Amino acid sequence: MTVSRDSVSRDSVSRDSVSRDRDTSLRERAGKVIPGGMYGHLSARRLSPNYPQFYARVQGARAWDVDGREFVDMMCSFGPMILGYQHEKVEQAAAAQRAQGDTQPGPGEAMVELAEILTGRVDHADWAMFGKNGSDATRLCLSAARAATGRRHVVASEHSYHGWLGWSNRFADGQAGRPDPETFRYTYNDLDSVRGAVEQADPAKVAAIFVSPFRHDAGHDQELVDHEFAKGVRALCDEIGAALVMDEVRAGFRLHHGSSWEPLGVKPDLSAWSKAIANGYPIAAALGTDRFREGVEQVFATGSFWYQAVPMAAAVATIRALKDENAIARMEAAGTRLREGIARQAEQHGVEVSQTGPVQIPNLSFAGDADFKKAMAFCGEAAAHGAILHPRHNWFLSSAHTDADIDRALEATDAAFRAVRSESGSS
Ligand SMILES: Cc1ncc(COP(=O)(O)O)c(C=O)c1O
Repeated sequence: MTVSRDSVSRDSVSRDSVSRDRDTSLRERAGKVIPGGMYGHLSARRLSPNYPQFYARVQGARAWDVDGREFVDMMCSFGPMILGYQHEKVEQAAAAQRAQGDTQPGPGEAMVELAEILTGRVDHADWAMFGKNGSDATRLCLSAARAATGRRHVVASEHSYHGWLGWSNRFADGQAGRPDPETFRYTYNDLDSVRGAVEQADPAKVAAIFVSPFRHDAGHDQELVDHEFAKGVRALCDEIGAALVMDEVRAGFRLHHGSSWEPLGVKPDLSAWSKAIANGYPIAAALGTDRFREGVEQVFATGSFWYQAVPMAAAVATIRALKDENAIARMEAAGTRLREGIARQAEQHGVEVSQTGPVQIPNLSFAGDADFKKAMAFCGEAAAHGAILHPRHNWFLSSAHTDADIDRALEATDAAFRAVRSESGSS
């Protein structure tokens, strides 16, 4: 029997009391027609069976799966949801644009408006170009750097993710994949290792050095950027004539209303944005300085849906609302409540954890958990108790997370800590 979505109460989310009929049936059907059933880190196959795979609706910071189970979403769809699902102003802007047209023979007025608002908000940006996914934006930045410098090599941090394309992802072709011979790796926050990678690549051949606002590699504790590292990478790029490219896809507009290192006084030449800039509508942007304008003009890049007007109108409304609604401060407050609550629970349960990264993009790991068994048990139990978390990937806060949402998530994590204790054999 399937429980209707409206009849699901807080107490009925436990895995034993709610039917999983629809989720089970959809997984079976998907397994036949979608290779692997699902892919990437969204795949519930790689997570505890308590996770839902298919969702029916979303509102604010809550999500309901196809069986009517209600969850506090602490993943924000892996980042895009920043103001809350169904945010009124964003949805109104999207609906108004949709009534006029979405995919049209060319872009609408919203594209110019969006480029204007982005170049106004982000200090280093003199221009903007648009795509659909973060991978488009990082690749556009790389192309702009290559076209402007006439060089090929790229230097990026080990374990960093800049999208699924082969220049930064050795698994793009599955087992047949290999590291790209034009990509050289350094260790985040270690300036000597950046110099080492540049030497290995040949300084005269380096088109770009990629950085992220902080170290947010999946499966690793996060690391805030060291100020001297940020300044040092900037100086090194200037010294060798390479572009400093900031990948803002994951963290953009959650830390700062401009580019994430602006508060440190360090500006990149190019930056890549996607995820949160339109509160869930599909759009990505590469931003750059005038030095790279001529280069990027030579790049041939396009996509069938790159000029859709609805996501552009949604992005304009999102970027306005982020500031008007003081979204970053609200995410920080919600993230702090979560971090303090988890710290208290960890102590009460006698479980040693590390909470790393900015509070609005938090990561939780467990001591002695190289195989992620504790993290899996923790997140699996949290899902059974109504909170969506991830065992290997950082989580995301939105400005829609209220105190009640965080407290609800903390009820789930309290149960989850008990599961970790029994996984460790300590209760
Ligand atoms: C830092 C970073 N860069 C690039 C990407 C690629 O974005 P997309 O998956 O939208 O192509 C991601 C996606 O998670 C990311 O986290």
